[in-house]
Amino acid sequence: MRIGPYLLPNNLVVAPMAGVTDRPFRSLCKRLGAGYAVSEMVASDPRLYGTDKSRRRLDHRGEAAPIAVQIAGADPLRLAEAARYNVARGAQIVDINMGCPAKKVCNAAAGSALLANEPLVAAILEAVVSAVDVPVTLKVRTGVHPGARNALTIARIAEDAGVAALTVHGRTRACGFSGAVEYGTIAEVKRAVAIPVIANGDVATPEGARDVLVRTGADGLMIGRAAQGRPWIFREIAHFLATGMRMPPPTVAEARALILAHLADHHAFYGPEAGLRTARKHLGWYTARWVGGDAFRHTMCAADTIPAQVAVVEAYFDVLARRHVQLPYRTEAEEDIVRADPGGSRGGAAVADDVARAGSEGVVAS
Ligand SMILES: Cc1cc2nc3c(=O)[nH]c(=O)nc-3n(C[C@H](O)[C@H](O)[C@H](O)COP(=O)(O)O)c2cc1C
Repeated sequence: MRIGPYLLPNNLVVAPMAGVTDRPFRSLCKRLGAGYAVSEMVASDPRLYGTDKSRRRLDHRGEAAPIAVQIAGADPLRLAEAARYNVARGAQIVDINMGCPAKKVCNAAAGSALLANEPLVAAILEAVVSAVDVPVTLKVRTGVHPGARNALTIARIAEDAGVAALTVHGRTRACGFSGAVEYGTIAEVKRAVAIPVIANGDVATPEGARDVLVRTGADGLMIGRAAQGRPWIFREIAHFLATGMRMPPPTVAEARALILAHLADHHAFYGPEAGLRTARKHLGWYTARWVGGDAFRHTMCAADTIPAQVAVVEAYFDVLARRHVQLPYRTEAEEDIVRADPGGSRGGAAVADDVARAGSEGVVAS
């Protein structure tokens, strides 16, 4: 897939997710097979540029090109200014968010709320495209609500304005994250424009990825929630698309090295206090479906320094390595057992006991 002058290594894209796809996580996904990643949203309000959050979101050091920064807002001139500001700080592609249903964004009539105002969409796209000499891309939903689906019109407006690629999350704003994804609407958008179209929504497995590509005819796939705790999903999908075969999950040894490196990068990026706190959600996602993961998370949340957090992770991997070569994902059937009886003796509870013991030793030892 090509975006402006950038020929991407493949067509698998990391979705922008505020609070998740920070630079450490994007870099990890790119190392593990994602062809492209869009940064978390940066506000277009210049008063917010100086905050720690904005500074971190503008930090792209060491990230593989092309660097794509997402901007959000509702005022064409401000968005044009935000685009210029980001390009001056290293953005090689500017993505405009008209896909986010978040109250914080939509209350300011930005994000997916903009879709209701087609002339304003056109004015924003024209202003941003003419403000910078890098490709401008757009992320949308299929409309504001099911009675007002206008993704096709928006796609044509985008193409006419010179937008270089379009991502469609196949739900309306009103649908939030629930209900079936409208892959049919994405297919119609793909047929209506010549620019690359990236399909988004509920892609969670290699087979699902193949099916969405077939059903939509899209040029690329954007993957969000399924990458949380599973950054290797990109290479798993790439492998499946290339060979038709599933690749095995990472080995325990590889996952240990990847996650400890991710943690180190994360702690360095956020500093000790925020780093400790925000790493917990990644560790929770990583282990959500691993045997012994529940007990691990319990112990991990009690670790209140960075060395303690690292020690708990190492102790968990020591236990896993004694019993498994490959990461032990619970099967769906085991998931059901654990959900029904979280403290029970099945679904990996034997490892869970070991983990709880090793984890608390890890906390004490550090
Ligand atoms: C925690 C979270 C944060 C998100 N933040 C953004 C954002 O900043 N900008 C955006 O365009 N979409 C955002 N999204 C939407 C995703 O990019 C994506 O469109 C959506 O999750 C559907 O894809 P998925 O089913 O693969 O997760 C966010 C989604 C989640 C779950």
